[in-house]
Amino acid sequence: MDEYKSVINILTNVYNGKNLSEELSNYKNENNIAKIKFLVYGVIRNYFSINFYIENITKNISKKDLLLAQIGIFELNESNKPEYAVVNNLVDISNVSSKKFINWLLREYQRNSELLKKAVEKNYSLKYNIPNWIIDILKKQYKKEYKIFLEGFNFHPAFGLRVNNRNKSVQEYLLILDNSGINYKVITNKICLNQPLNIKDIPNFSIGDVSIQDIAAQYLVDFLNKNNVIPRKVIDACAAPGGKACQILENYNCELIALDINNNRLEKINQNLNRLNLKATVLVGDAGNKNWWNKEKVDLVVADVPCSASGTIKRNPDIKINRSYNDVLKFVETQRKIILNMWECLEYNGFLLYITCSIFREENQDNLLWFRENIKGFNIIDELQIYPTEYNDSLYYALVKKIAL
Ligand SMILES: C[S@@+](CC[C@H](N)C(=O)[O-])C[C@H]1O[C@@H](n2cnc3c(N)ncnc32)[C@H](O)[C@@H]1O
Repeated sequence: MDEYKSVINILTNVYNGKNLSEELSNYKNENNIAKIKFLVYGVIRNYFSINFYIENITKNISKKDLLLAQIGIFELNESNKPEYAVVNNLVDISNVSSKKFINWLLREYQRNSELLKKAVEKNYSLKYNIPNWIIDILKKQYKKEYKIFLEGFNFHPAFGLRVNNRNKSVQEYLLILDNSGINYKVITNKICLNQPLNIKDIPNFSIGDVSIQDIAAQYLVDFLNKNNVIPRKVIDACAAPGGKACQILENYNCELIALDINNNRLEKINQNLNRLNLKATVLVGDAGNKNWWNKEKVDLVVADVPCSASGTIKRNPDIKINRSYNDVLKFVETQRKIILNMWECLEYNGFLLYITCSIFREENQDNLLWFRENIKGFNIIDELQIYPTEYNDSLYYALVKKIAL
């Protein structure tokens, strides 16, 4: 029962524009964090259909009662609590003046749910719980393939593990998982666990044999190798928390500057480097200017730029509620500023690896074309777009060579 208060606080803050992961991190030491997460993620993932159910029952509802109704309907649909207990619990925590109303609303939902669910099936925004503005763009940009995204975004977030090549091979680590009775899938030599685990339960995590990283992000090294890029000097321009920087250091003998604008997130890079026994120069700075730069050009700039993160909707479902198309356009501006600036840190015949976890062409293919038109010697070598599946998020990679004209 205690969890309801926390869930109501978190949902209220997210509806006011706060970031869901950050809000949840304030509760990470609570005993009932698993229940809190179950309810918060559940309501936000199913936000559009739940609101449709409520609107069909009543048009007149206070903000507080709306939250209780959302939680109640999610629990009635998805939890294994008996239905009478769900209704009783929510009535118990309602204000005195709302008890009758919440009881009526949830009972009304129970009576009509079959019919309402049929109506939801007919509307993709409700069925997949994705806002119409995203569906419209997906249809325009991906034609028939747009449904791959809608379906991909409705899986539970996958739990990828990246094996540190400097310590173990994937095969060696799989034996450790087998011996620990941990179930997994292997996809193109990358590991996805069947169930998420706490860090302390991941075998050999603390000694740096593995890191948590989505499979889509693990394609970085395959993509570089496929194009025969073997970096010696690297700047990772948007590096925190250091997933891709560490992956590069695990696979290539190179020097690396890990830059990020967010000082608080630098600590995460350092923790990862220490745990994995890797070395890099970690700097705070804005990749949109060169105040931090030592004027030494490099042969690889990795720009895993700030973006709409729309490819990670299943992991960050608040994006569906709080992001708009205008945000996408603002990210495009930042991305352009970063690439225009970082281009000058690259030596001739060096490579830019541009990465986003966005599904929108504006931040990906269209941006690349803009760069090609506006930057001299911008020679696009290869692109890779990974669609969301049960096992991975969606990611976009582009490799560009800087040629002298
Ligand atoms: C997608 S995340 C990077 C993830 C990271 N590459 C990894 O694999 O772990 C984007 C990062 O860009 C940083 N960032 C945003 N604007 C920036 C800027 N102007 N200069 C440098 N870093 C920036 C954010 O703080 C955030 O850590």
